[in-house]
Amino acid sequence: MRCLLVLLALGATAGCNRGQSKEAPDGKPSPTLRLAVVTDLKGYLEPCGCTSRPLGGIDRLAAQIRALRDGSVPLVVLMAGDLFFDTDALEPARVDQANRNASTLLGILDHLEIDAALPGRRDRAQPQEELARLHTASRFPWLAMKGAAEVVRIKAGELRIAVVGVRPGAKRDAVMAAVGSAQAETDLTIALVHGSRRDANRIGAIDGVDFVVHGGLDQDAPLPPHRAGEAWVLNAGRQGQGLTVVDLHRKTDEAFADLSEWSKKERIRQLEAQIADLSEKILEWERSKDVDPADLRAQSDRLAALKTQREAMDAPPRSPRGNSFTARWVELPKEAPTDQEVTKLMREHDKAVNQANREAFADLAPRPLGPDDIAYVGSEACGTCHNPAYVWWQSHPHGHAYLTLQTRNKEFNLDCVGCHVTGYDQPGGSTVTHNLKGALVNVGCESCHGPGAAHTKNPEIDIVEDAPESTCLPCHNEEHSDQFDYETYKKTLIVPGHGLPPVEP
Ligand code: HEC
Ligand code: HEC
Ligand code: HEC
Ligand code: HEC
Repeated sequence: MRCLLVLLALGATAGCNRGQSKEAPDGKPSPTLRLAVVTDLKGYLEPCGCTSRPLGGIDRLAAQIRALRDGSVPLVVLMAGDLFFDTDALEPARVDQANRNASTLLGILDHLEIDAALPGRRDRAQPQEELARLHTASRFPWLAMKGAAEVVRIKAGELRIAVVGVRPGAKRDAVMAAVGSAQAETDLTIALVHGSRRDANRIGAIDGVDFVVHGGLDQDAPLPPHRAGEAWVLNAGRQGQGLTVVDLHRKTDEAFADLSEWSKKERIRQLEAQIADLSEKILEWERSKDVDPADLRAQSDRLAALKTQREAMDAPPRSPRGNSFTARWVELPKEAPTDQEVTKLMREHDKAVNQANREAFADLAPRPLGPDDIAYVGSEACGTCHNPAYVWWQSHPHGHAYLTLQTRNKEFNLDCVGCHVTGYDQPGGSTVTHNLKGALVNVGCESCHGPGAAHTKNPEIDIVEDAPESTCLPCHNEEHSDQFDYETYKKTLIVPGHGLPPVEP
């Protein structure tokens, strides 16, 4: 934005027209630059696969980035927010798996040719030794690991870009100084931030910043671009569920206009919600005798203004004469293409983690039974007397929950095993390696009815009959069972042979 002053003063475009849009063969101007933005990856190599519509996968992300780098438009890939870790204080037992995960991810990110990244607070909270190990091995720049702000310069086609990494919690003055120093010889300034919305907006408001890549929000839904000062704030959700792709058309040194359908839809949604809300309130006020007519008129005028704004959104967009961009959210569902090379690295990683944990936790015995605890016996033991129930259970997803992990080389994975076995971490139950020689794999009878040794020995001793919602929720939580509804799910468990009399042959 510095250049604008020169432009006005000289009345000429000399020296200021770098990175202008070129004409594509079809007559439409092709973008000057394409940004691919990823925020809050948090060490996710792929989604767990538990939910109805799993999103993400670093191999899918890699395929997208490869496709975007098609040579027609210069591509810059930026990341902000926690990259490698999703917790700041790892339990000692989880350190090895988390570090292996970080190493695998780092290798893959290197392969993606990231232009710059701003690690988040959780990354920075890891033990210095581990962080240094990763940082040294990394081929892409990690910003602001020491100072409050750090600038890297990128040349993309004709454009000279300054990327300013802002250390989480950095003082605004320090960031202003870094942005200021970056302005010379720069066509575009992009700040990478980890923090709250307020933090991102504060950095966006600094003179000279054109875009802010905002990590640290840590929410699933990506935010459409929004304004902060002269800048635009970009976010891409979390856990690699997708990426935000921005096509920039740069003609001058002015601020950018947002032509995205994405933001437009969001704006329309907001306006319609405001209109509905205010209309309802006005109806109420009209019915009430206590509201001052002048106030009511003022509110009606406000409503009319909102409606005018809403109608204006339907007009076809004017093609802007100055700078503009369009941003889109590229979601990564199961069907999205994968980068085979990266998939291979992920599968090797799964095997390595499985093998390492199997050895590291070989001696991890279940917690001992207390005086009032009942031992687990496994579903097969129940089947000797409850055969119809056992037969039903074997064909239910609970009956092969462990196979689900085994086929993926994840049965010793600490992120997975706990919900796909019976009595995990319970006295006399299972651990990552111990499961009563296979009796406690899968989500067995005792996951719902409680440990059954006493009842098995003597059926006169009652076992828990009902399984209330609280029994299901530790496994069927929001992250792993998005469609869970207790009544609906439970109904499917009450079948002939289990809860209903067996069908006579
Ligand atoms: C030796 C045979 C036997 C074994 C083994 C056995 N049960 Fe039972 N179970 C019974 C009998 C008998 C009843 C009482 C049936 C009735 O009253 O209708 C019963 C009742 C139940 C009930 C109803 C609640 C209650 O206490 O009356 C549940 C639930 C149950 N069993 C679950 C299990 C589970 C889970 C296992 C394995 C951990 C298991 N049973 C093992 C024989 C057995
Ligand atoms: C120990 C963890 C655990 C508990 C406790 C648990 N579940 Fe599950 N449940 C699972 C897992 C894991 C699966 C998926 C298994 C697979 O396909 O690999 C599953 C699958 C299901 C399914 C099948 C869903 C489908 O897509 O077909 C139903 C229904 C279900 N659970 C209901 C319940 C109910 C109701 C409760 C409580 C009464 C409960 N579960 C308790 C772990 C658990
Ligand atoms: C907090 C408990 C929990 C954890 C941890 C967990 N799962 Fe699950 N998983 C579930 C539940 C519950 C379901 C069933 C969800 C439903 O149908 O509503 C499920 C279902 C699945 C399914 C779908 C099975 C099918 O055939 O449809 C896969 C695959 C799966 N999990 C794999 C994994 C992997 C891999 C991990 C580790 C990265 C993992 N899970 C960690 C609870 C968990
Ligand atoms: C996902 C949870 C879950 C699993 C796993 C499960 N049950 Fe149940 N079971 C229930 C629920 C819920 C009921 C119904 C309780 C009620 O009616 O309130 C029930 C009822 C029963 C009853 C009472 C039946 C009756 O006639 O009223 C028996 C017996 C039983 N289960 C045995 C088993 C056995 C044996 C297994 C393993 C082979 C098993 N259950 C696995 C949840 C489960």
